[in-house]
Amino acid sequence: MKNYQFLQQKYLVNTYVNRGVTFIRGEGIYLYDEFGNKYLDMMSNYGVNIFGHVNKEITEQITKQLKTLTTLHGSFNNNKRAEASELLIKRCGLSYKFVYWSNSGAEANEAALKFAVATTGKKKIIACENGYHGKTLGTLSVTAGEKYRKPFLPLLWNVIFIKHDNIEALEKVIDKNTAAFIVEPIQGEGGIYVPDKNYLIKVRKICDKHGVLLIVDEIQTGMGRTGSLLSIQKTGIEADILTLGKGLAGGIPVGATLVNQKIGNAIFKGLHTSTFGGNPLACAGVMATLNKIDNKLLKHVTEIGSYFINELKSIKSSSILDVRGQGLMIGVDVKEDRNGLLKKLQGEKILAIPAGETVVRFLPPFIVEKKHIDKTVDKLKQILS
Ligand SMILES: Cc1ncc(COP(=O)(O)O)c(C=O)c1O
Repeated sequence: MKNYQFLQQKYLVNTYVNRGVTFIRGEGIYLYDEFGNKYLDMMSNYGVNIFGHVNKEITEQITKQLKTLTTLHGSFNNNKRAEASELLIKRCGLSYKFVYWSNSGAEANEAALKFAVATTGKKKIIACENGYHGKTLGTLSVTAGEKYRKPFLPLLWNVIFIKHDNIEALEKVIDKNTAAFIVEPIQGEGGIYVPDKNYLIKVRKICDKHGVLLIVDEIQTGMGRTGSLLSIQKTGIEADILTLGKGLAGGIPVGATLVNQKIGNAIFKGLHTSTFGGNPLACAGVMATLNKIDNKLLKHVTEIGSYFINELKSIKSSSILDVRGQGLMIGVDVKEDRNGLLKKLQGEKILAIPAGETVVRFLPPFIVEKKHIDKTVDKLKQILS
């Protein structure tokens, strides 16, 4: 058998940590390595495989489209693209009128920033400390984190970083020269920080008062992850620009930037395009995925997420500083050696991922059951004792 880890490390640019395991197949909540060992996937590829691996209905829809038409430039019309756009806009909220399709979360945010600047004619953007919006040059400009930013400084435009979940900080820097405030409803990569439940309601009011666009990045929190299709649907507010990605197309690469009428009016032909954006294959994945996210599923995410959080909170260990999260977006903040803990969990054939510097993050697929959670919590208990 070929040594795939060796080959991958030999030929890929060295930008990823290597977790030392080679997966060749997935089924439901499990990933299988080259020797047939089965791993419990409590991270769903950083939140992508929300219905687990090779979900039957999604795979059927994508396969059908694969045999029909995979890609078609945006200057031509297509049945799947038209239908997926209508469905997504209708599910997200009344103020969203148009969608721009792309191929990743970073691209969705890149478009959001360009649309905000094109609409307002301003270049001052407010973003959050500890926030994450991608690593392309545009999105890196609004992503926090010295280590990612330093080699590329100066980055784009006039970006001001403020504390997340802090209204006074926003009030202090927002002004008539500001184009937009970009924010995650729950900070994901930064370490799973859930703000006060009124935070985004207040943010919406302040942005309205100053005529500043609100960009809400739901790339990690969206598509049911927190127990509602969008996390902000719990607050009743809507964004001016909403970004989605990760699990939106059932595992096919995708990004979506939804905009209101005002922004739609300001965007002119050629302003921003992408060869693969809105390709019929991804759009078939979007439809299959959206059609599976119903109230029953969202209730399950809420309930089983609470169960997971409570079970994690019940672990008696001085190593655990905090357990945070909502729905199936959960972080366990540990005192020391977070990476060692992830390694030990992997040794027990349970997959979790890092967030921030000290957090073990769980983003399980929505098909997760109590038995999977119990196993994860038991192993974590054993490791910590
Ligand atoms: C909130 C948020 N925004 C943007 C991104 C970037 O998405 P991608 O990695 O698909 O470019 C991520 C990825 O983790 C994310 O969590």
